[in-house]
Amino acid sequence: MAKVELTPQCLIPVRPILIVGANVNGKADFVNIGSGGLLSFEPPTVAIPFRYMRYSLKGTLENWTFSVNIPSADQTVVSDYCGIISGEDADKARDCNFTVFYGKLENAPMIEEFPINFECTVLHVIGTHSHELVIGQVISTYVSESYLKDGKLDFNRFSPLLWYPDMGQYVTIGPALGKAFGIGKELRNKANK
Ligand SMILES: Cc1cc2nc3c(=O)[nH]c(=O)nc-3n(C[C@H](O)[C@H](O)[C@H](O)COP(=O)(O)O)c2cc1C
Repeated sequence: MAKVELTPQCLIPVRPILIVGANVNGKADFVNIGSGGLLSFEPPTVAIPFRYMRYSLKGTLENWTFSVNIPSADQTVVSDYCGIISGEDADKARDCNFTVFYGKLENAPMIEEFPINFECTVLHVIGTHSHELVIGQVISTYVSESYLKDGKLDFNRFSPLLWYPDMGQYVTIGPALGKAFGIGKELRNKANK
């Protein structure tokens, strides 16, 4: 198939929306981060790319803590709101009707209405040309009870909010396609591996 070369870019078409929380001057701020994600399992770490001017970055570096709040698909409007106005100009928690709670770290604000929350301490800050990449260690993870089945997130109850940048749209997932670490086994057997 013919390929078209584009400008160099991280063309990962679909990304999970993370709503990152930080206290700035003692008040909770929440920012929509569409290009962050998981970094390592042991210890559990996440990478959050903040543009330098973000008000929420100020709070993250003030306290050396932040939270990650994962919305479900029906929380699209409030999630987008957190990405189109700065905490310098608005009280986003109040405008979105968020119930803010704190965990072990005591100064990483989390959103009770969102299904998944983790609180993190900052491990490293790496400067890039465009972003301050904040690497955080997850200290505690919380899940709203109704999204769990046998202690695990239930695919049938939780529809994540994803971002498709090239389409400029939020989307969610479709049907399950096959068992991970399983569906490829037939091909492995055929290849005698
Ligand atoms: C879909 C979407 C994805 C975004 N991803 C990022 C991101 O990865 N990093 C970033 O610094 N800003 C990102 N933003 C922009 C910030 O969320 C936005 O500028 C926000 O108003 C900053 O809030 P603050 O000033 O309270 O920190 C994104 C916004 C949207 C709508």
